[in-house]
Amino acid sequence: MEHILGAITVFLFMLLLIFSSIILNERRKRVQLLKKLRGKNKEEKQPPIDRSKLLARALSLIKEGIVVMDPYGRIMFTNRFARELLGIDKNDTGKFFYQAIKDFDIVSMINEAFNESYKVWQEKKIKDRFVQVIFGSDLDEKVLLLIDQTPIKKYENLKKDFIANASHELKTPLAAMKLSLETLEEICKENPNATKYILKAQERVNYMEQLIEDLITLSLLETTNLTIRLQKIKILPIVEEILNNVSEVISQKKIQVSIKIPEDATICADEKLIHAILKNLIDNAIKYNRECGTIEILFKRLKNEDEIKICDSGYGIPKSHIPFIFERFYRVERSRSRKSGGTGLGLSIVKLATEKLGGKIEVESQEGKGTCFSVYLPKRCDIITSDF
Ligand SMILES: Nc1ncnc2c1ncn2[C@@H]1O[C@H](COP(=O)(O)OP(=O)(O)OP(=O)(O)O)[C@@H](O)[C@H]1O
Ligand SMILES: [Mg+2]
Repeated sequence: MEHILGAITVFLFMLLLIFSSIILNERRKRVQLLKKLRGKNKEEKQPPIDRSKLLARALSLIKEGIVVMDPYGRIMFTNRFARELLGIDKNDTGKFFYQAIKDFDIVSMINEAFNESYKVWQEKKIKDRFVQVIFGSDLDEKVLLLIDQTPIKKYENLKKDFIANASHELKTPLAAMKLSLETLEEICKENPNATKYILKAQERVNYMEQLIEDLITLSLLETTNLTIRLQKIKILPIVEEILNNVSEVISQKKIQVSIKIPEDATICADEKLIHAILKNLIDNAIKYNRECGTIEILFKRLKNEDEIKICDSGYGIPKSHIPFIFERFYRVERSRSRKSGGTGLGLSIVKLATEKLGGKIEVESQEGKGTCFSVYLPKRCDIITSDF
């Protein structure tokens, strides 16, 4: 009995020890938590963060240049990229922009746009970088932004070089193939079966030649800094020259062409681009026309733009295809366009070139009756700048 009582006492004593250690542990945790909270309160009471300093630090890390000026042109803020590019000293804050900026071109750009609300210059080489320069003075402060386009420029140059090299590499063997086929045609004159296959091969070679030319034109039109020489151009001589070059096909198909363009009618365009636009549209009006069909080429001066309209009496384009005809390699009837040697790039070139001239193109078509393409070009030559 005594043993049992002793064991119970020891057991109760142990239980007491365990409980007291648990309680002590909890207390310690609570004290630690309280200490942490007190510490946090202390932190919160610290002076507020200088957000403008933080922002300036963040802006100094970005790869775009920023110069903020007061309404009189005195420098208020510059970030690191702008200082490096424009040779501005950190202590130049407060000086006028023409005293601080070492790049003369940028100073004259700011001068030129100082009283305008917003101006964008597409590209300027400063030191070893290509930058887009934006000057905004919509607010009281004037802001000069320098957007680094060097990586895009590098990519574009790579693409341009690749297409130029690839097309050059393709052009040379194609020319050799063309010559060989001509010789072969001469040798096999007496063999109608061989002549048939030689003609087929010649057709494909011509197609590849056209495809290369179109790809080169498209890649040129896609470059952002394509130089566009806008000038007043007489439209009639261009149309006549294009028609002259295709007169053989026109007479083969017995197509009647009527031109309704006043002799002195001028448009505002780049000669090469308008030539590409009209050549492709006239080419289509012939290719997709029926025998003994008609083509009408009209010019109209509208209020704000000039319209050039080319209508044909051909197969027309089904309504469901119209939204896609300006896409690359899109052909409504593959067999028909392939037979006529089409690459499906003509209308993409037309659309891009029209947009580069600041204009737009519209199409109306009725299946079985014909198609009209209308090109609208702005009248004023100064609407778009040359550095597109
Ligand atoms: N005047 C037209 N009448 C009927 N269909 C047309 C006309 N113009 C274009 N199309 C259709 O739109 C498609 C795209 O025309 P696009 O000029 O881009 O290519 P293409 O004429 O086939 O080839 P490319 O002009 O490159 O030699 C043509 O394949 C044709 O089906
Ligand atoms: Mg075409």
